[in-house]
Amino acid sequence: MENEKIILTGIRPTGNLHLGHYFGAVGNWVKLQNEYNTLIEIADVKALTDNFNNPDKVRKNVRELALDLLACGIDPNKATIFIQSMIPEIAELTVYYSNLVTIARLERNPTIKTEISQKKEIFGQSGEGVTYGFLGYPVSQTADITAFGGTLVPVGDDQLPLIEQAREIVRKFNSIYGDTLKEPNHLLSKIPRLKGLDGNEKMGKSLGNAIFLVDDDETITKKIMDAITDKNKIHKDDPANPDVCMVYYYHKLVSGDNLVTICNECKEGKRGCIQCKKELAKNMIEFLKPVKERRKYYEDNPEKVEYILKEGTKKAKLKASENMDKIKKAIKIDYFKE
Ligand code: TRP
Repeated sequence: MENEKIILTGIRPTGNLHLGHYFGAVGNWVKLQNEYNTLIEIADVKALTDNFNNPDKVRKNVRELALDLLACGIDPNKATIFIQSMIPEIAELTVYYSNLVTIARLERNPTIKTEISQKKEIFGQSGEGVTYGFLGYPVSQTADITAFGGTLVPVGDDQLPLIEQAREIVRKFNSIYGDTLKEPNHLLSKIPRLKGLDGNEKMGKSLGNAIFLVDDDETITKKIMDAITDKNKIHKDDPANPDVCMVYYYHKLVSGDNLVTICNECKEGKRGCIQCKKELAKNMIEFLKPVKERRKYYEDNPEKVEYILKEGTKKAKLKASENMDKIKKAIKIDYFKE
């Protein structure tokens, strides 16, 4: 199984998952878990980079994230869900890798660069708010991936520079210490970035345009009724352009069978926006029904969630510790081993 592909992906426990997470990432992992050895990291250490002063928030969201992942259909019999902080090998590797990358290179990483400039907007030009830990984010993500020999990393397009950086670190490691690590490849989902109901390029909690998987039916309907449609359509029977309508954009995700009808009726002015939104809300609620049912099951059985996390973490830890032995041997820091 040397050439077996290992999927390693991660998500930070900072809040409940929304449709952007589902269609852009987790829904894809649900399919991948059937084909590959799949590990999913609950990246609590990473969540602490921005939330080091709010441990309660991170702690609470580890459980929420586990519930959301299971609700989406991640099957603990197929995929391994684990908690980052419980695998100290990741932190250890981060230290070794930190020698293999320059500060200038980290500052040039587009993902980090964007976030640094956002932080500077909040904290001022002094750069306050940009911690050592934050700058090292790509290094620790390289550790996340390589600790488990991850070869395929499903990510959104905003994460591509982090994967590129991981590849560089791996190449550097191998060139110095001998061929030890595998270069990871990214795997982009079909929808690397889901647009918000307001037409924003991204759905996000902070953007206030997200439908959460835990939203109740009434909330979902209300949010969809506020979605942006073709602004040139004034009257109910005006013909419109579905390609600029967010309601149609979401119909494409959940209204499969009826899509052609919806599209044609919209173009021909035979479908009012209110009716169209109500239909979308109905389909979305139907789509999320099994997600909610699974969530309810695990909410009612917290000991099962605890067990899944514990077993997953145990399994991941075993893998990391095996890899760590090889890595330490390569760096010649494998003391006391006869
Ligand atoms: N950095 C990712 C994010 O911010 C989450 C993440 C953590 C991750 N560890 C990972 C992604 C490992 C891919 C591989 O959303």
